[in-house]
Amino acid sequence: MSCRRRVVLFFGGWIFLGLLSVALNAINIDWQKTPLWQGILLVVVIATLQGSVLELVAITIATLLVRKRKIPNRREVCDNLTLIMNYNLLALAKKDIEETYQRMYEAFLGNLHPSIATVLVSATNDLRQYELHVRDNYRAKIYDELMKEGEAFAASEYRDIDPFRLDNVWNKFAHLNMSTFVTERLPQICEAYTKDFMCIHRISRVLRKCGQYQDLMLLSEGDKLGYTYTDQTLYGSKARPYNQPLFVDSPDVDNIFRRRFNYTLVLDGDTRVPPSTAIDLLAIASGNPEYAIIQPAIIMDVDDKDTIFMHLEKLRQDINAPVTSAMAYVLGHSGYYGKALIKNSAYIHNVIGTRDHLIERVPIDVLSHDTFEAAVLKSYYAGSTALYEAPPFNYITWNIRERRWNKGEVLLSFYFWPLLIGKPMRALQAATQGKKFVKTKLRTRSKLDFVSSYQAHSAYRQMWMKPLLLVFMILHINIHLHYSYLPIAIIMFLIIIFPKFDEIICGRRS
Ligand SMILES: *[C@@H]1O[C@H](CO)[C@@H](O)[C@H](O)[C@H]1NC(C)=O
Repeated sequence: MSCRRRVVLFFGGWIFLGLLSVALNAINIDWQKTPLWQGILLVVVIATLQGSVLELVAITIATLLVRKRKIPNRREVCDNLTLIMNYNLLALAKKDIEETYQRMYEAFLGNLHPSIATVLVSATNDLRQYELHVRDNYRAKIYDELMKEGEAFAASEYRDIDPFRLDNVWNKFAHLNMSTFVTERLPQICEAYTKDFMCIHRISRVLRKCGQYQDLMLLSEGDKLGYTYTDQTLYGSKARPYNQPLFVDSPDVDNIFRRRFNYTLVLDGDTRVPPSTAIDLLAIASGNPEYAIIQPAIIMDVDDKDTIFMHLEKLRQDINAPVTSAMAYVLGHSGYYGKALIKNSAYIHNVIGTRDHLIERVPIDVLSHDTFEAAVLKSYYAGSTALYEAPPFNYITWNIRERRWNKGEVLLSFYFWPLLIGKPMRALQAATQGKKFVKTKLRTRSKLDFVSSYQAHSAYRQMWMKPLLLVFMILHINIHLHYSYLPIAIIMFLIIIFPKFDEIICGRRS
């Protein structure tokens, strides 16, 4: 079945369920006791509310239908592709820095490869010296470990060598004379790898994390000075000075300058990249070169020491995993969750722009940049690989994050519906913020196709569903129904129990 047909079937099915529910609701109302206008209003309101609930039902059915289909990720050789693993951090305490470096160190050694470099792009203010200090400690550790492994390789003690590194690093030197390898080549090799464990400090805060990797891409392409988001007529005081350096000058900045990496693996400070995952993602990228974003599965990382809340989050996310994968297949397009492999050339071409032709598609004040990027770039779901991250620690940290995300969705809606939501909300902002308000404009407006806008607005719809459910319950006061509890019982069944069928029937997949 073609992707177009799957899309039509999915949305057709959803509309059909919606109409069915309108009819059933109309039948359920006791028209003899209910005034006509009130009854019609109820049917109309309920149809809207149930429409959003029925989205979940349509998704669940779609997941059940495609569950048997194996959705393979094509892989190709990727010998001529390069990648930079990009950890992003804004540290407030030493502990943040130490934890991020530990993850970065594991990612680096577990994915050691001639075509992969690793960089921490930091927006930290006060602890910069400490970040460099910790980097140097890890560099010394990496150097020692690689020296030991290289010596084991020379002595043919393969049991002491990590199998991934044996294949990707050491075996490339198998043809050499081992005693000259140890004395002449090995220190250079270890030194060269060690240098690719980097830390650079970004100067501007513009666009926050999204700006951190945008500037990294521009540095890698050959720009040390900023030319994006510098236009005061568009961005007012939020703009950065034209030709401000992107990063604090350092040997690491020079090491990335003009390396022209093909891909950037964007990560957060708490993302874990399991051994060999980066090269596997590069192989998938090589097999799907037309895609600008390769989105691996994101799995929650919990162990026995973690809180009950974290385990519950993991459970919730496990239930969602088959849904994400099935919907990416049905729609032929994946979301982007802020941690993924990005093709630099396509990203610069479509999202950032060049000095002569600026694009700046991500609005300067938007928080949910990933929704924007996924909407304008072709993205591919690589569900056979995964990155790991820690779930929120407890209900409070969950709530802080949720609030930030929802705020992001609201800001996003200013740009997606500039007349309907943007204008009135900007006026409200100007009225409440007074002098602090900065009027910002967008350089390039993005036109979204049907499927992209459906995906771009999915978090927004979910955000609205909660208050809508409340309205739905309130509306039932004073209305005469034949079966008064039936509608709410059905809805609760459909949103709480029915989606779990995916999990029960599809079984747990890791
Ligand atoms: C990868 O990057 C190199 C260096 O910039 C470039 O020559 C090559 O064409 C790129 N490969 C692909 C497939 O984009």
